[in-house]
Amino acid sequence: MVSIPRDQWYVAAYGREIGHDLFNRTVCGESILFWRTRAGAVTAVSDRCVHRRFPLSEAPSRLVDDQVVCGYHGFTYGADGGCVAVPGQTRVPRTARLKSYPVVEQDSFVWVWIGDPAKADASRIPRAPWLDAPGWTTVSGMEPLNARFGLLVDNLLDLSHETYLHSGYIGTPEVAATPITTEVDDEAGVVYVSRHMDDAECPPFYAKSTGLAGRIMRWQDIEYTPPCLYKLHSRIAPLGVLPGADGSDPDAFHVEVVYAITPETEHTTHDFWAVARDFALDDQGVSDFLAEQNRTVVLQDVAALNVLEQVIATEPAGYQELSINIDTGGLAARRLLARLTEQGAASRA
Ligand code: FES
Ligand SMILES: [Fe+2]
Repeated sequence: MVSIPRDQWYVAAYGREIGHDLFNRTVCGESILFWRTRAGAVTAVSDRCVHRRFPLSEAPSRLVDDQVVCGYHGFTYGADGGCVAVPGQTRVPRTARLKSYPVVEQDSFVWVWIGDPAKADASRIPRAPWLDAPGWTTVSGMEPLNARFGLLVDNLLDLSHETYLHSGYIGTPEVAATPITTEVDDEAGVVYVSRHMDDAECPPFYAKSTGLAGRIMRWQDIEYTPPCLYKLHSRIAPLGVLPGADGSDPDAFHVEVVYAITPETEHTTHDFWAVARDFALDDQGVSDFLAEQNRTVVLQDVAALNVLEQVIATEPAGYQELSINIDTGGLAARRLLARLTEQGAASRA
């Protein structure tokens, strides 16, 4: 895992994915077993039996109350990963313990800490409160990506690609044509990229969901907290309608597009996406439309990034990219990611 920052929080799943069943997901190359205890807490432990490595998420391994019984020879573990029973002897070896991961369930996500558990500080998990807050309706999903997570970071930090890759969905000519502003908060470790289009075509994604016809104001304000959480604060309004001096903005439509970018391995990624809106809250037709549209857009990115991963795998060493103004945010993100990776590596040295 040379290029993936460790000692970091990553989204492993949506809370809804984890019930009282054994659930596996690989995060940063670590195969992790999840389940929800009867008290409702999510547990995360290594999905590899300490005896002969049998995956505990694999049948016939099974959950009995809040203990998991290995399907190979019956080693039995509690929710904290400690082994409570082994076959053929009463003495349980002291070292029989699954690695246990710090877990926090927040904003509809299940976050896990990958790295040194002593450094896990839940207060440092970036927030996406809209995803389960009153006044917002959210659609969400996850698509597997056969490409390294850095390619998805590049993709999301430069939305000029919407004009070309997502034409007919969220792309219009103004996205690529409008310059961006980029700011980096080095101390907090956040990259901001803004593109304010004050007179733009309304793409189908927003025309059909908001009902706005004709030209619009379209503001895109990206806030990326490496490595995992990306937020696109999207504001759509009739031409000339600005937020009030007090910050109120009743005549605009707000969409919070949230991605959690979680490395599965060095070369594969979990692409979690969510779209939260503050309008048409109870309109199932709008929810279905946005879910279908956004999933299509994500799959367009997935197809392109899967190709890029293959291109990179076969290119000669030393290939040089060429960067321009639109890449400023992506380059800043790469710099912050490199710093996090170095910090994680240094703390293990
Ligand atoms: S591999 Fe799990 S009990 Fe033997
Ligand atoms: Fe895209």
